Amino acid sequence: MFGKRGTSKSGSAAPKSFGSGGGANVPKPKPIPASEPAQPAKTTSAPKEKPAAPKKPAATLSDDSAQGIKPVSSEKKEKLDEIKVNVFNDLMEAVDLSELSALTPEQVRDEINDMVSEIISMRGLVLSMQEQQLVIEDICNDVLGLGPIEPLLARDDIADLMVNGPDVVYIEVNGKMEKTPIKFRDQAQLMNICQRIVSAVGRRVDEASPICDARLADGSRVNVIAPPLAIDGTALTIRKFKKDKLTLENLLQFGSITPELKTVMEVVSEIRLNTLISGGTGSGKTTLLNCMTGHIDPAERIITCEDSAELQLQQPHVVRLETRPPNLEGKGEISMRDLVKNCLRMRPERIIVGEVRGPEAFDLLQAMNTGHDGSMGTIHANNPREAISRVENMIMMGGYNLPSRAMREQISGAVNIIVQASRLRDGSRKITHLTEVVGMEGEIITLQDLCVYEIEGEDANGKIVGRHKFSGLRPTFWEKAKYYGLERKLAEALQQNG
Ligand SMILES: Nc1ncnc2c1ncn2[C@@H]1O[C@H](COP(=O)(O)OP(=O)(O)O)[C@@H](O)[C@H]1O
Ligand SMILES: [Mg+2]
Repeated sequence: MFGKRGTSKSGSAAPKSFGSGGGANVPKPKPIPASEPAQPAKTTSAPKEKPAAPKKPAATLSDDSAQGIKPVSSEKKEKLDEIKVNVFNDLMEAVDLSELSALTPEQVRDEINDMVSEIISMRGLVLSMQEQQLVIEDICNDVLGLGPIEPLLARDDIADLMVNGPDVVYIEVNGKMEKTPIKFRDQAQLMNICQRIVSAVGRRVDEASPICDARLADGSRVNVIAPPLAIDGTALTIRKFKKDKLTLENLLQFGSITPELKTVMEVVSEIRLNTLISGGTGSGKTTLLNCMTGHIDPAERIITCEDSAELQLQQPHVVRLETRPPNLEGKGEISMRDLVKNCLRMRPERIIVGEVRGPEAFDLLQAMNTGHDGSMGTIHANNPREAISRVENMIMMGGYNLPSRAMREQISGAVNIIVQASRLRDGSRKITHLTEVVGMEGEIITLQDLCVYEIEGEDANGKIVGRHKFSGLRPTFWEKAKYYGLERKLAEALQQNG
């Protein structure tokens, strides 16, 4: 339970941003008896008798850039910050956090709402409705959510959220990196929040094990790397889970593909070509994989293997498998390789590997070579040629003692097509290559580009101008398309560009 997202009282449509000044430039509030504010919700032992330590604000309040909220003068902000700390500390005195953790997030919010209103009136504080809401919202986010980044998680337009230590938070919106004014109170608050995230999946992050992968309740992927490895404070990276996955139709609207390329890609997946989707981080590989699976025949038995389930296949006959990291004692790990190997005993018709990044490459190739046509996977590489050499590397690192020629024969026999996704420098995402693996020439695997995105320049707004160019070559999968009765569909698409 990390708190609910997107349904907070202030609404998710007008996210607030929290904290401009961190703790440093805020005057220290009067010492009052208090307990630690940023304890994880599950901790029962809030040290109630602890002497009154001068507290920084529990989470700094919105600054001038906050959307939809009137700018607060700095004097007023300081006052609000101080109020918040006092209210927060009073609240911690009054509630037992372990009791709160038994409630649903909605109930906790209601509870906090009531108590904070009471504390405010007991202290005789004069606050506008808006200010009171701000205080309550911040406190809720701190107690049960992800603190100052909670409002960001509620936003659907954010693809990635990157925290580089307590004072620096970046987001990716529309393919562009943006720095936000959000800050954590201090490293301890950031660490507490990270701890809360990973403990929900039974993991731990601290100096002894400073690297950790986890997942939020909504499916978002999380990575934490803590000091001393992260020199300037804990780095927290969240890849937001998108509920509404993009379709090929969407990619067409975005200009990532052309109608003809879309048609060819549909054919590729309908005629069961073994496909590798290549691209850099965040280039849209998983999205593309998801799109392409949309054209698989509903009658097929599909098995998906992922590190963390992201794919959303629409077909009825799907078995979804997920890897498992080792537990706290370092035991019980189930690797991608274990999954792919096991898959082969499950009578799959297609195997789909979310991300090929290790020795499982070999098992996937074997599957592709042994009748599981139409298998797919994504791979991290910047162009199709590099994708091939990445596969070679993965096989070598897996300790298979294959002569390189034999290995390349495996690859060229297994992989039919490579689709390259790229994120261009203007933030737009494009399918930049549709490349066939044709065969071997001597020791070298031959590739043939069917379609390439050519950059022609930049417009006045810095947007990249370019076009998808078909090579005009006849694909080697022509015969296969014919076998599936799709040669006309293919021919029409290719002729449009011929
Ligand atoms: N063609 C596209 N146009 C616009 N946004 C895209 C496109 N493809 C993917 N995205 C978005 O980019 C983000 C990263 O995509 P994802 O497929 O997870 O990348 P990868 O798997 O390569 O790391 C997601 O938020 C996704 O919705
Ligand atoms: Mg991905």
